[in-house]
Amino acid sequence: MTLVDRTDNDDAGVFQITDEIAIVQTVDFITPVVDDPYIFGQIAAANSLSDIYAMGAEVSTALNIVAYDSCNVSKKMLNEILRGGSDKVREAGGVILGGHTIEDVEMKFGLSVTGMVHPKKILRNNTTKIGDKIILTKPIGLGVITTSIKANEAPKSAIEKAIFHMSFLNKTASELAIKFGANALTDVTGFGLLGHLYEMTNSKISVQLEFAKIPIIEEAFELAEDGFFPGGSFRNERYFMPFTKIDNSIAAFKRTLLFDAQTSGGLLISVPQENAKKLLDSLRLAGIEFAEIIGEVVSSKKEKIEVS
Ligand code: CO
Ligand code: CO
Repeated sequence: MTLVDRTDNDDAGVFQITDEIAIVQTVDFITPVVDDPYIFGQIAAANSLSDIYAMGAEVSTALNIVAYDSCNVSKKMLNEILRGGSDKVREAGGVILGGHTIEDVEMKFGLSVTGMVHPKKILRNNTTKIGDKIILTKPIGLGVITTSIKANEAPKSAIEKAIFHMSFLNKTASELAIKFGANALTDVTGFGLLGHLYEMTNSKISVQLEFAKIPIIEEAFELAEDGFFPGGSFRNERYFMPFTKIDNSIAAFKRTLLFDAQTSGGLLISVPQENAKKLLDSLRLAGIEFAEIIGEVVSSKKEKIEVS
């Protein structure tokens, strides 16, 4: 029986097999975001696995999806990408069963992933409750940094931070969100922070954020001011702006950062207020030290998201 499908605008599809078991399925693949093939493999895999964690599920199996130009990309380089992917899947506790490769002038890599979850324990993205606190587990600014990497304008420190965050699995963050009774869960990817937050809202609630609390990679500010945004970030801003109200004192480039399209971004956790601080402390203790409580869920207002 289908529990979640594409009409739900959620992170992955869910299909119930027995009273105890539902499978969670997702597919994602990306073009290179860094130069090192092994690291690209790790990031692409962490990005693909993230939607399983965003449903509160565990990773079971994965299939490689590869597009590459065999005339210009060496077999050695391809093997490094696959090794990066396979190491991440192993870290996730899953196995790669196979995959498919095609010829393409533009390199692409990712995974089709299957996870498992108890049918009653699925964490959807739009089931927040009034009074919940919203926690973000990774800083934003990754789209700005990967765009500046492509333009050869990224400072070394920015590249190192982006690699650290993008290759970091959302596994532990998801497990802790479950442990502390999260009401809703999603991950921040192509629609940016406010785009994915908008997907968490519904007709009964709105979300209030404090700009100063939102973790942002320091180097991303200057790069954002210089305009290194991926095209998707501006599209997100145009699309989601009518549903949001951002304080006028916040500079335009900082506003666009809130819509910056992320690769392998963090989780957005909606957690009961009484557990928020405990969850935050546990996340930080587990090495997810950039996690922050960025706002709260309130009863529905004119705008679905307010940033002050
Ligand atoms: Co997602
Ligand atoms: Co998704």
